[in-house]
Amino acid sequence: MSDAAVLLVHTDSDREYLRAPGEELQTDLGVLTVPDDPAPGETIETHLGETFRVRSLRGPDLFAHFERTGAPMMPRDVGLVIGHTGAQSGDLVLDAGTGTGVLAAYLGRLGADVTTYERDPEFAEVARGNMALAGVGERVEVRTGDVVEELDGFAGGAFDLLTLDTGDAAAVVERAPDLLASGGYCAVYAPFVEDARRAEETAREAGLLDVETLETIQRELHVDERGTRPSTAGVGHTGYLTFGRND
Ligand SMILES: C[S@@+](CC[C@H](N)C(=O)[O-])C[C@H]1O[C@@H](n2cnc3c(N)ncnc32)[C@H](O)[C@@H]1O
Repeated sequence: MSDAAVLLVHTDSDREYLRAPGEELQTDLGVLTVPDDPAPGETIETHLGETFRVRSLRGPDLFAHFERTGAPMMPRDVGLVIGHTGAQSGDLVLDAGTGTGVLAAYLGRLGADVTTYERDPEFAEVARGNMALAGVGERVEVRTGDVVEELDGFAGGAFDLLTLDTGDAAAVVERAPDLLASGGYCAVYAPFVEDARRAEETAREAGLLDVETLETIQRELHVDERGTRPSTAGVGHTGYLTFGRND
């Protein structure tokens, strides 16, 4: 990931930008060029004398700064996918749809080799740019196409992990036993409970083991001088995650 982008953090405000080595940053704060080998912690000045600190890229920056197309998966949901499937370095992953590519890039940065499908050609092109920024252009192959139409080419138990974030995920889940290696996991993210139910029922019918669906809810804790309490802003629902494991 040596050629990954870096964060440029304005020293006098909370403004920050993600830029690749050698790229130019042009804002009302002036123009600067990122060095070819930017060192974390170094300070770079724009032509107007404004300073930015170089900060190393980490996963949450992908969600905050990637160019967005399909609604990106939030870091907390990425964490659940990784935690419940044990995604790890060396895994072969089939992911769809790519969308913005946040989940695919997180998995690539873990050291997994990811093949990800995006049926919208413009979204796929944006995702390729995002993978390059994340320094995982070699690990994450973004293919343009409908994943359901490509499954025949993958039968034979090649993947350690299937990660699905599409309305038609069930069409992939029903093929999961053919696609997954022994012990491999399937994870489906669904924004609606009807899709989650379809994923769970399909996973059971396909014979996957340990099938479960979780609603993902997270509440922020507010800490201030008066005291500490959970945020009163809603229930913090993101969606549903359905998991199943191949025998
Ligand atoms: C919610 S986004 C995925 C976000 C992604 N998980 C992320 O973390 O950034 C869903 C994407 O799936 C794509 N899509 C939907 N059905 C598909 C299919 N059958 N094959 C490939 N891509 C599909 C859509 O075009 C959309 O871009």
